[in-house]
Amino acid sequence: MKIAIIGTGRMGKALLKTFYKSYPNSILFSSRSLTKAQEVIDGLAIELKAVPLEDALQADIIIPTLWFRDLIPWLEENKEQLKGKILIDITNPFNASFDDFTTAFDTSSAEEVQKAVPQTKVVGAFKNTYWVVFDQPVLQGLKSDLYITSQDEQALNTVINILRPLPFRVLNAGALINSRTIERMTLLSRELSLKAGNYPRISFNLWGLEHDGLIANNIEAL
Ligand SMILES: NC(=O)c1ccc[n+]([C@@H]2O[C@H](COP(=O)([O-])OP(=O)(O)OC[C@H]3O[C@@H](n4cnc5c(N)ncnc54)[C@H](OP(=O)(O)O)[C@@H]3O)[C@@H](O)[C@H]2O)c1
Repeated sequence: MKIAIIGTGRMGKALLKTFYKSYPNSILFSSRSLTKAQEVIDGLAIELKAVPLEDALQADIIIPTLWFRDLIPWLEENKEQLKGKILIDITNPFNASFDDFTTAFDTSSAEEVQKAVPQTKVVGAFKNTYWVVFDQPVLQGLKSDLYITSQDEQALNTVINILRPLPFRVLNAGALINSRTIERMTLLSRELSLKAGNYPRISFNLWGLEHDGLIANNIEAL
């Protein structure tokens, strides 16, 4: 199974570094600029060759690391190639001042992404994981939570299983509608961490889930 990460920004780099550690032979990395993508790879000193977008779109799982406003037109452009694939949506629909969202309360960017590509299996993940947290996902002795959502149960399970070797606590967060809450949790964590003076080194770890079967795989690590 191939996993494509698209974009050389903060999340693109963080995801590349993290996924490569667990899946060195399964990662495709791409960008609008092949040169820029290769520079990022070289900067991380990993054995990989950047690929053009058309090759990255052949992967089974695609992770575009674009902003929500850029992602919707990008999905429209690449709709055909994305058919039948799993797309991991990491976007939070921030406004220009990063203190609110551009989406209404009765939707989420994950749901809007799913509407834009109805024949693609959209899975929401990494919504609350600030780029710096990837370097140190265990904070104060607790693993950082990943809340995973999807309308497609099979895609949800596939992604959960793929994320399990990563250094996070992976939680089945149910249907895409829950992304409304999960995405807005990022707004809350941002405000709290700014007040506490440690933005962006902030993440969620929901207390009290130790006996939930969904996280049994991670109990011993806590
Ligand atoms: N920053 C965080 O901590 C964080 C946490 C959770 C979720 N997120 C979400 O992750 C996404 C990326 O955040 P970021 O902080 O990594 O942003 P960023 O550093 O600005 O990176 C965004 C990347 O998207 C690519 N891009 C921009 N416009 C594009 C277009 N029209 N077509 C194709 N690619 C385009 C660019 O990569 P190329 O120049 O290589 O094409 C750019 O580097 C956002 O949706 C954000 O809500 C961010």
